Amino acid sequence: MNLEQEISRRRTFGIISHPDAGKTTLTEKLLLFGGAIQKAGAVKSSKIKDHARSDWMEIEKQRGISVATSVMGFTYKDVKINLLDTPGHQDFAEDTYRTLTAVDSVIMVIDCVKGVETQTEKLMEVCRMRSTPVICFINKLDREGRDPFDLLDEIEEKLRIKVRPLSWPISMGKTFKGVYSLYEKSLHLFTASKTVVEEGIEISDIHSKELDRLVGENNAMQLRADVELIEGVYPDFSVDTYAAGEVAPVFFGSAVNNFGVKELLDTFIRIAPTPRPRATTLRDVAPDETKFTGFVFKIHANMDPKHRNRIAFVRVCSGAFHRGDTYFHVRHNKSFRFSNATAFLAQDRETIDEAWPGDIVGIYDTGNLKIGDTLTEGEKLTYTGIPSFSPEIFKEVVNKDAMKSKQLEKGLLQLMEEGVAQLFTFDVGKRKVVGTVGALQFEVIQFRLLHEYGATVEFHPQQIYKACWISSPDERKLNEFVQSKLRYIARDKDDKLVFMAESKAWLQMVQDNFPDIRFHFTSEFKD
Ligand code: G4P
Repeated sequence: MNLEQEISRRRTFGIISHPDAGKTTLTEKLLLFGGAIQKAGAVKSSKIKDHARSDWMEIEKQRGISVATSVMGFTYKDVKINLLDTPGHQDFAEDTYRTLTAVDSVIMVIDCVKGVETQTEKLMEVCRMRSTPVICFINKLDREGRDPFDLLDEIEEKLRIKVRPLSWPISMGKTFKGVYSLYEKSLHLFTASKTVVEEGIEISDIHSKELDRLVGENNAMQLRADVELIEGVYPDFSVDTYAAGEVAPVFFGSAVNNFGVKELLDTFIRIAPTPRPRATTLRDVAPDETKFTGFVFKIHANMDPKHRNRIAFVRVCSGAFHRGDTYFHVRHNKSFRFSNATAFLAQDRETIDEAWPGDIVGIYDTGNLKIGDTLTEGEKLTYTGIPSFSPEIFKEVVNKDAMKSKQLEKGLLQLMEEGVAQLFTFDVGKRKVVGTVGALQFEVIQFRLLHEYGATVEFHPQQIYKACWISSPDERKLNEFVQSKLRYIARDKDDKLVFMAESKAWLQMVQDNFPDIRFHFTSEFKD
């Protein structure tokens, strides 16, 4: 197969949801269809449940397992699917945000009882930044959920994306009958099943008596009325508006009962985008360019502290990656040979010889790679769109063992390169403040600094609301601002200027008082 053919058969995507909506269950069903796993329950082990604080060691243990399942490659109907796992635990949301930079589309799972939840809203914001195409899967139709029209309205309102149902439920909960595919004009009757997949019954005319016979007169009447309303209210489905991230097609089903999953997957492989051109500091790079390029979006540390190697996850963006070849590391301005690259399969890792756009390659690394790094065949371009987001919780790192300050320095640097948290160094007093999305990371950092680097630290809470990257078209005004707010000025890992705002109200006031300064909640921005 040539490069074009390899690209056209690849779909690289992630499943996102608020915890408990059914992401793990849906992942597992998709893998069953892809023949990547043989039995239900196989994916559960990778799942990080919302554990109590004391359970975080368990999470560390699972971190090891989750390397194997963080990218699941499988083939379905000759399409090579790369499913990138995103941590369910919201304390690891930053990890999820970064993983989303490496996908070409997402499937968003929404619980029909709970509707749109907070984590879903945050994840959607990240998708919107990159205009990532989204398919919604409304799950748990076997439960008494909310009215489907209300759910659609809520998605449009809270997630700020237009929707277009492609299937429609017939009743729900105890009286759930099945779904009608608006796309294929066929009926799928509900049977709770872990493995069996019923083929749809073609209903070319929903006014036929056949429908009444299959779902009952009342349900048939309701379906006809609903379909009429949908066709009247929502524009026809268009692959283009979906691919542009403007309209999300919506499916209904029940993941645990394996219902509606096949329809989702069949439509997904038909409409989901193949790898697309991506922006770099120099130009957009098309996937069918013959020279290899890719970027690191995730680093996973080895669980064994004695072997400090890590796995860097590289998304191939153009050309073909060949194991053993020498590639150019743009940040280091140096070439490296990667002889130990691995591919990710559903349950396994195996050595690969080549990888194509859309694929994820695992590279063993001893500290040369960090998140956001670009590899090429020599061109000095850097992929953009892999920003850091403002953390939510900030704590100062206090060294408790003066003899170990070197180790602490090194450990902090390495953990930050892995993306465990973000480090901000204040201009005044060089105070080091760690910012995270969740509370759990502080325990993880403290534990790993001690066990892997021998450094003992304490964390002191800080009154900081947001880290804002600042810029201004007027250099002089920016300098003046920095001087007048010196106590609140810090640098991020790339030495970029950051204003540490103490509260929302205060930030608003500062913004009003300094109209020439721009405040950004992500580290990448356009002036
Ligand atoms: P997550 O990864 O998004 O956090 O969710 P997960 O798949 O683990 O699903 C959360 C819970 O919802 C699980 O129950 C799962 O079985 C259940 N679930 C998933 N899909 C459906 C569905 O279509 N209908 C119903 N009724 N439930 C569904 P649990 O009790 O937490 O775990 P388990 O003991 O069942 O595995």
